[in-house]
Amino acid sequence: MLRRVPLSLLRPGMFLHAIEGSWLSHPFWRRRFLLRSDSDIAALRDADIAFVTIDTTRGLAPIEEPEPIIITEPVVASGPTGITAERERAADIVARTREIIRGVFEGARLGKAIDSEQVAAVVDEISGSVQRNAYALISIVRLKSKDDYSYLHSVAVCALMVNFARHLGLPDETVREFGLAGLVHDIGKMDVPSEILNKPGRLTDEEFAIARLHPERGCAILGRAEAIPATAIDVCRHHHEKIDGTGYPFGLKGGEISLAARMGAICDVYDALTSDRAYKDAWSPIEAVTAMHGWNGQFDRDLLFTFYQSIAVFPVGMVVRLRSQRLAIILSNGRRASRPRLRVFYDTAANSLVDPRDIILADDDACKTVIRAENATDWGAHDWPALCVHLLQESDKLDRDVIARLWAGVETTPGETVEMPTSDRVSRWRPSERLD
Ligand SMILES: [Fe+2]
Repeated sequence: MLRRVPLSLLRPGMFLHAIEGSWLSHPFWRRRFLLRSDSDIAALRDADIAFVTIDTTRGLAPIEEPEPIIITEPVVASGPTGITAERERAADIVARTREIIRGVFEGARLGKAIDSEQVAAVVDEISGSVQRNAYALISIVRLKSKDDYSYLHSVAVCALMVNFARHLGLPDETVREFGLAGLVHDIGKMDVPSEILNKPGRLTDEEFAIARLHPERGCAILGRAEAIPATAIDVCRHHHEKIDGTGYPFGLKGGEISLAARMGAICDVYDALTSDRAYKDAWSPIEAVTAMHGWNGQFDRDLLFTFYQSIAVFPVGMVVRLRSQRLAIILSNGRRASRPRLRVFYDTAANSLVDPRDIILADDDACKTVIRAENATDWGAHDWPALCVHLLQESDKLDRDVIARLWAGVETTPGETVEMPTSDRVSRWRPSERLD
């Protein structure tokens, strides 16, 4: 049961559920935690807090019962709002947070300790916007200029991490920690010369070696600050590790890389790909996820699919199962808006092909409607490589007889992969070349 109690009734062993007042008015990083000692209570007193909410199912109850005030649910921010309403508000948040992050990062370059409360407040602002509408702020920060990249990349990765963590159903406190980790993951770049970061062409081996020091440099900067959660340091240190062990700085593999760092790697690369950089133009969201999907060994595949759901963008050619139990293939949107365009072609309940029908999912529908990735060969597609190419054509070129023949056609080599159509600039790109 949640109870609002005055500070005078607090004692070690109680579980703190909420502190009244703003985030900035209290000294704790965590919003919910067990009061372990008198010094925790003294810190609350010093912060001039009069009342808190405790959870008596997770800790001790007051000895002297206060006037009972039963709180049914924690207070949450206002519910989802439309993207148009949120865009204006998000633009304002982006403008303000860019200046705050610029100050924090420039201060770090000069050896100043990070003010953890200041960055935590930025996380709250970004998180609030993502909660009201997941896509407004994310779509605004994607359109950053090259000059703004350093600071707005941090804001973007923070927003993507918050949104991703929510889709995974992580607790609020973890969502905020992951958001903060996204915000500061690249702070070590403040110690990398801008001539290297902004070099338009290929980096020399020596320049690469310097750029690759940024995770460790970032950890050193974060280590000077007080109350930075371990998750932030972990993501800062490991966001360039890859699932197959070919990343840096340690070459960690699979489960050796934490959930937060695996998520951070996905958000970091997605934002880098969809941004204008000195060495490449911005790719569209669908181009970015299609390329990322093809880079075997770089990312956690299960997490990658949840990430697609969280941003409502899926790779071209991916087969997905919809809540209607039909299979659909993701079509290309070119460089247009990110809404997924799908072509439904199979009914798993009836085990039969259906006449192809195109649908466009509204952003908010995508995460609810697309329930999982599927392999068409598991459902009986015999010549999927050829059928996939046929299904990706313009709708007026589709032929029911061809589809039926390819579905039931001759056996093909198991595991044969399909080459997805990509633009020249995407197919020319090699992820090992440069992505920082
Ligand atoms: Fe990085």
